[in-house]
Amino acid sequence: MSIVARAHRVLLVGYGGYGPNHAEAWRSMGLGDQMIVADTDPAARADALAAGITENNIVEDFRQCLDAVDIVDAVVPLAAHMTVAEAALNAGKHLLLEKPATANTSDAARLAALAAHAGTVVQIGYQLRYHPLATALKDLLTSGALGDPVYLAGESSGFKRLRSDIGVLRNDAVHLLDLTRWLIGKAPNRIFAVLRDDLGRGVESLACVVLRYTDGVVARIEAGRTGIGHNPDPFVPGGVTTHMFSVVGSEGAAEINFHTGALVHRRARFHDEERISRPELKDLIVSENITCSWPEVTARSLSAFVDSIDNDDATGVPVYEAGVDMAILCEAIETSAETAMTVSLEANA
Ligand SMILES: NC(=O)c1ccc[n+]([C@@H]2O[C@H](COP(=O)([O-])OP(=O)(O)OC[C@H]3O[C@@H](n4cnc5c(N)ncnc54)[C@H](O)[C@@H]3O)[C@@H](O)[C@H]2O)c1
Repeated sequence: MSIVARAHRVLLVGYGGYGPNHAEAWRSMGLGDQMIVADTDPAARADALAAGITENNIVEDFRQCLDAVDIVDAVVPLAAHMTVAEAALNAGKHLLLEKPATANTSDAARLAALAAHAGTVVQIGYQLRYHPLATALKDLLTSGALGDPVYLAGESSGFKRLRSDIGVLRNDAVHLLDLTRWLIGKAPNRIFAVLRDDLGRGVESLACVVLRYTDGVVARIEAGRTGIGHNPDPFVPGGVTTHMFSVVGSEGAAEINFHTGALVHRRARFHDEERISRPELKDLIVSENITCSWPEVTARSLSAFVDSIDNDDATGVPVYEAGVDMAILCEAIETSAETAMTVSLEANA
């Protein structure tokens, strides 16, 4: 990751819960001084002022500043994603759009078409790909140390606040679904899902998804707002969370824990005896302290986005995969949950 001052001017749209995290990341990259912050809420603008953004660089309507910037960073609620994305891309700007990119597949298709027409770099905010634990896990997989992947599992659950505008599928599970896609580089061909609104808020507080791939690989993703939660939540004071991902392969297994910063890798192979198969456990490798603060993870992801702009090479979190494919997957998950049936995604796999 290169963190250097580069000649880009950023318009950060949305300075609510998560916008300040992006602002800190831009500052750490040397792009904070010229950054413009836009927010429709006077309280959010006051927060930006209190955080040291100069008054001249704080506006209510992001549109009035589009001409002054080359990057638009959209950290607004999902309902406003397309409004900001469309204006930014029609103005020919590079766009960092927070996750989930869109609320449905038709918006996702429109976003992809706008991005293709603009010809600029568009990255979706699936920043787990830039966490050093995730990259260490991917390195293990691609090195062949785990053998062929067989089973993947991701969990993001615990007792913490639930947004009212979006359920855990599009707020939390999408991160793990994206991580799965990035780790094994393919889309599932069948899914089965359960979504539950256990808190009676009109949005799901639990999402359990099983994904199957054409080669037999299986993944299980769980995201929820109820559950034991083994660690203090980094964003929600008083909240508790478990945030883990594991991969089982033909030669062993590895697990990462985003709270403790630990990666555990155990090599194992089964040997068949007459009436039983016994695992032969080889070395257990525990790598600890692969920690990274969340603003640092955001900075890594924003830096990769800027690298893509500078190198004219969109290698970040691509808009089709993380926008269109993810929207198709989320809608299939909803269909499965509604019908209690397995949904085929053959055309997408
Ligand atoms: N990648 C991650 O890990 C991560 C984490 C948290 C949030 N997010 C995403 O970030 C986005 C914002 O989440 P949040 O928690 O900050 O939401 P929020 O509701 O706390 O804040 C959003 C801000 O956007 C402002 N806003 C809304 N419409 C606007 C418009 N048209 N122009 C300018 N400002 C506008 C609101 O006034 C508010 O201040 C969401 O898409 C969310 O999914 C991503």
